[in-house]
Amino acid sequence: MLANFMAWIDKRLPVTEAWNKHLAQYPAPKNFNFWYFFGSLAMLVLVNQIVTGIWLTMNYEPSGDGAFASVEYIMRDVDYGWLLRYMHSTGASAFFIVVYLHMYRGLMYGSYQKPRELLWIFGMLIFLVLMAEAFMGYLLPWGNMSYWGAQVIISLFGAIPVIGDDLTTWIKGDYVISGATLNRFFALHVIALPLVLVILVFLHILALHEVGSNNPEGTDIKKKKGSVPEAELSKFKFHKAYSEKYDIVDAIPFHPYYSVKDIMGVVGFLLLFCWVMFFAPEGGGYFLEAPNFEPANGLKTPEHIVPVWYFGPFYTILRVIPDKLVGMLGMFAAIGMLFALPWFDRGTVKSFKFRSKWHLLNIAQFTACFIALGILGTLPSSDLANLIGRIATLGYFGFFIALWFYSKNEQTKPVPERVTK
Ligand code: HEM
Repeated sequence: MLANFMAWIDKRLPVTEAWNKHLAQYPAPKNFNFWYFFGSLAMLVLVNQIVTGIWLTMNYEPSGDGAFASVEYIMRDVDYGWLLRYMHSTGASAFFIVVYLHMYRGLMYGSYQKPRELLWIFGMLIFLVLMAEAFMGYLLPWGNMSYWGAQVIISLFGAIPVIGDDLTTWIKGDYVISGATLNRFFALHVIALPLVLVILVFLHILALHEVGSNNPEGTDIKKKKGSVPEAELSKFKFHKAYSEKYDIVDAIPFHPYYSVKDIMGVVGFLLLFCWVMFFAPEGGGYFLEAPNFEPANGLKTPEHIVPVWYFGPFYTILRVIPDKLVGMLGMFAAIGMLFALPWFDRGTVKSFKFRSKWHLLNIAQFTACFIALGILGTLPSSDLANLIGRIATLGYFGFFIALWFYSKNEQTKPVPERVTK
């Protein structure tokens, strides 16, 4: 019965074919480790955000007069409204934790290098849209930090010569941040940006499957057709779309091996996620900030306006540069450098395991600077914080520049022909 039904569908739409090619029989390198959990976890969190977001929208009121009260109503009176809201607010921070770790894996194993540049670019576009999505979502509860956070970021555009003032008015839809601003942010947060995100994730996966996954050793699992003896090759059977083009070795079909392994990752993730959601939903003041439990008030500035933790690194770069316009350019350049990472790295060896000690040192200093920038972004400004922030900013940009210089003629170790562990 089911077989007949699927045969009927497959004649009209190649569902089984696509399922096998992109999921069940996708050749995944056999040495995926802990760091390879985060792609599927990012998808899980994306689904969580969309589903809980839809349900929150059912009771949320996108107006200056009603927004704050409607969130309180969701928390107190809507059945399981508190759960939906905490799933969504914890999900926002979880999204960035998972995506930062996912990006870091790419950095360690050189997954951005040729031929995965476009995959990386799609990833960076996702990251950019995700930041816009989070920024707009943060205004919606219409708390005092929502209001002032948006005020600080939107006013940045005022520093742009000639068009700055008009641009900020255009973004706000008013001369001040008002219900009109809230309304347009709601439209973008609820439909426009999620739609773009879903399309980008789709393209991200398509681009990945065209070139194939990298792995912790950066070894190519695809050999030239006909170069591997048939007896050896018969151990590795994959969907014809892949096997027709290459001899694929050292890979296993995604299902059941990685479908089962990813479930382990999901269980571990959900344990942590649920612990935060049920026992510390404010995330120690990092996930939901104290001033946001007060309604937006244009006459009362919170003592310290700090963005949510995940904007920390970029916010610090903005803050420690004395000139507003240069600071803004610095912040955008920091993201731009990440976009261009595949071209800063002129090396051919992917994984840090086979690269020079300079590369290890460079990644280590970049990691330290990024974490320092992130922590500083959540702290009030002070002379010492600004000094450390400036050093870390130099370290951040220095990473890319140093990489460009040493990667051309780097002393690397030989990369094994086949996956060794
Ligand atoms: C909503 C956000 C995202 C989702 C759902 C997502 C999903 C995925 C999935 C399912 C994979 C394959 C499994 C894996 O390798 O972990 C993957 C691979 C990859 N992603 Fe993402 N991704 C997201 C964001 C990003 C971002 C922001 C970047 C970087 C800028 C990125 C870069 C990569 C790279 C380079 C790979 C290939 C890694 C390798 O084969 O070693 N992704 N992504």
